[in-house]
Amino acid sequence: MTNESCTYVIFGATGNLARIKLMPGFYHLDMENKLPECSRIVAVGRRPWDRAVWLAEVRTLLEEKFGGALDESVFQRFSERLFYHRGDLDDEQCYSSLATTLSDAQFSRNIAFYLAIGPDDFGHVIESLSKVELLAQEYGWRRVVIEKPFGYDLESAQALQKRLERHLTEEQIYRIDHYLGKGMVQNVLVFRFANVMLEPLWNRNYIDHIQITHAENLGISSRGEYYDSAGAMRDMLQSHLLQLMTLVAMEPPVAMDAEALRDEKVKVLKSIRPIPKSAVHAHAFRGQYGKGSINGQKVPGYLEEANIPTDSTTETYAAMKLMIDNWRWRGVPFYLRTGKRMAMGQSCISICFRHPPLQFFRGTHVSCMNPNWVILGIQPEECIRIEMTVKQAGLEMRTHTTSLDASFRQPDQRFVDAYENLLLDVIHGDRSLFLRFDEVESAWRIVDPILQTWASERDYIPTYPAGSWGPAESRRLFEKEDQFWRSSLLPECGPVG
Ligand SMILES: NC(=O)c1ccc[n+]([C@@H]2O[C@H](COP(=O)([O-])OP(=O)(O)OC[C@H]3O[C@@H](n4cnc5c(N)ncnc54)[C@H](OP(=O)(O)O)[C@@H]3O)[C@@H](O)[C@H]2O)c1
Repeated sequence: MTNESCTYVIFGATGNLARIKLMPGFYHLDMENKLPECSRIVAVGRRPWDRAVWLAEVRTLLEEKFGGALDESVFQRFSERLFYHRGDLDDEQCYSSLATTLSDAQFSRNIAFYLAIGPDDFGHVIESLSKVELLAQEYGWRRVVIEKPFGYDLESAQALQKRLERHLTEEQIYRIDHYLGKGMVQNVLVFRFANVMLEPLWNRNYIDHIQITHAENLGISSRGEYYDSAGAMRDMLQSHLLQLMTLVAMEPPVAMDAEALRDEKVKVLKSIRPIPKSAVHAHAFRGQYGKGSINGQKVPGYLEEANIPTDSTTETYAAMKLMIDNWRWRGVPFYLRTGKRMAMGQSCISICFRHPPLQFFRGTHVSCMNPNWVILGIQPEECIRIEMTVKQAGLEMRTHTTSLDASFRQPDQRFVDAYENLLLDVIHGDRSLFLRFDEVESAWRIVDPILQTWASERDYIPTYPAGSWGPAESRRLFEKEDQFWRSSLLPECGPVG
């Protein structure tokens, strides 16, 4: 791993992502002395600002983010790294003047371009950078970070890739999925591959089914236009949740290096049984939130949100059942679900083991027992819990569920935002937590038939009240009567809401 200096150029620096994640991420890294010396961060924006205005903007956004005054000595050092380049993405002049600026000796020849801009601009910006030879790696490395979504479906992802590969090698492209930068997501790999007692159990012989949930209690805020064209399946399931699934299901890679890891992830995606259009309704369920209440506050339904057509059938909830046709997982359903305006914000992986035989307990007060679950909380609570059945204290033979807790971060330890990890990985040239194109392609292949079917069914979409756990009818995805959506990180006994 190198610690060479680097110039980060951020397209879309005035946008939401740069303000809430990238600039605070860089600041934290600088605070922790993680940014290589002489690293510079060049913001590209079309607003008529200069460096002084940009510095004032950054100060304000950092104060808002961290809730108070900044450490002046850190901010001073940080601000010396910051520059503002004014230009419009659609104007060729923006790129030629950027090339001139970056040729100044104070900027490292190792340059990372971060495209924090709308996906429709990815191709055009790369072509423009290439034209002024900013992607040529003659005197230093050139890397490009591409935000999600990478394409809108399989065909558009392939078309975008074709455009990019005319100017970039695969090694230069960093397709970001910020979920993979989360400490707890990486902990899934450590939990699986550093604990020998788990491996013999991690298969169809012992596991009944696996659930992966990303629930948000937020609505669509001001992103109505984007969201209505994307929907929950594209926004969350195709990307983040399928990625989590690959980490839970993959075979141990031979090494923690980028290619070995990504090879194994791709194998999982390719082993997922394709869903033909005729089987979409048996494997996928969608819904849209109606009005309801969150934390006691009334909230409007999706169709009443700003910039949403009143007849929209875009899904704000999507659930899917997937089967992996390989030796480890044959017959074990993976249930994935995501939703906006759900009862609470929570991401977790819940692994349900098979029921033990009850023969031993015949003739006792133990009439039914919960199966063992392993719960991996991703956010906001990061935890690893293994639920066990134990005897209750007292004379009678009664049992209850308790959990072994292996949470990895102490309450006083600093939370490291996913973007910080990933921004640093780009500098270090570590692509293990970024997506290779064949991963993206395979993920689109899985969801494309569902998206196409839903796109053709525009008359009706089931609804669920805001503040609930989604449409109750999504239960029909379950293979067995005793399977239910697991919504709590704490031991629970049966179906909830
Ligand atoms: N926001 C998030 O939390 C998030 C999370 C994951 C992925 N992403 C992805 O990150 C990307 C950016 O998202 P965002 O939410 O930050 O979007 P955004 O708030 O709309 O920001 C877009 C940025 O692009 C700039 N821009 C647009 N047209 C331009 C032009 N012709 N010339 C120069 N600059 C131009 C905007 O400048 P102005 O400020 O002048 O309009 C703004 O800085 C998207 O691909 C999104 O899907 C975002």
